[in-house]
Amino acid sequence: MAQSQFSLEGQIALVTGGGRGIGNGIAQSLARAGADVVIADYTLELAETGAQAITALGRRSAAIQVDVRKEDSVKAMVEAVVKQFGRIDIAMNNAGIVSLGGVEELSVEMWDDVLDINLRGVFLCCKHQIGVMRKQKYGRIINTASIAGKVGFPGLCHYSASKFGVIGMTNAIAKEVAKDGITVNALCPGIVGTGMWRGETGLSGKWALPGESEEASWERHQQIFLPQGEAQTPEDMGQMVVYLACAPHVTGQALAVDGGFSL
Ligand SMILES: NC(=O)c1ccc[n+]([C@@H]2O[C@H](COP(=O)([O-])OP(=O)(O)OC[C@H]3O[C@@H](n4cnc5c(N)ncnc54)[C@H](O)[C@@H]3O)[C@@H](O)[C@H]2O)c1
Repeated sequence: MAQSQFSLEGQIALVTGGGRGIGNGIAQSLARAGADVVIADYTLELAETGAQAITALGRRSAAIQVDVRKEDSVKAMVEAVVKQFGRIDIAMNNAGIVSLGGVEELSVEMWDDVLDINLRGVFLCCKHQIGVMRKQKYGRIINTASIAGKVGFPGLCHYSASKFGVIGMTNAIAKEVAKDGITVNALCPGIVGTGMWRGETGLSGKWALPGESEEASWERHQQIFLPQGEAQTPEDMGQMVVYLACAPHVTGQALAVDGGFSL
């Protein structure tokens, strides 16, 4: 049978925040397309959960504990992948957090937490992955941004700042490394029913109207924000990432998978 044009057979991928949610779905999509996938996450337990899902798909994997805010930790993560697998073809810099607060009530700590993980974390990952990829003369970096990186949302000025930052940084780095066989793109998920949205501590719980259940709030937000009226899935994100991992001439872009919400 002819190999699919979206085959990642023989490639080594690294996914941060790959133990659950969107990162976990993306990691499994990469594995289904043929890649061996290393899972890095904030706790070793989460990383191991993600890695087990990859080996269950018949691909090689490894679990690495990382705190993307810390340069030593990110550097050690990159070195560990190269030591065990010899290269990094695809880097999915996906780890991120959200919190809610209007600009006047937002504490400096909340601002710093979100910017440190979502923006500084992606910068540190790119910084340490690019040296490896330059030597290979090949690499695909995909940074998770958001529709909140294309449009501002009230109560999320810090989160939007981090994700607008990811998109700008992605475009700048893409130009720096364009002659080295490395592409750098941003993925902009719309609304995905992970822990970030679901449950009482997720956005749909926090944005519920008085007396409204979390489930009803989740349904309402899909209708408010998404022209298609239904949430995206981690697998939808995985499809886009597999495409970006295969595309040689798409770089510096911020690609939304959001059911028609944004430009
Ligand atoms: N869920 C959505 O609707 C949505 C929409 C747009 C963008 N996003 C983005 O997608 C990415 C994944 O989010 P998700 O919805 O899967 O949420 P999630 O909370 O399920 O997953 C986030 C992952 O990041 C990891 N992480 C957090 N802090 C870390 C740190 N300091 N070091 C290493 N790992 C850390 C977590 O352990 C977790 O595995 C995030 O960047 C988020 O901003 C999500």
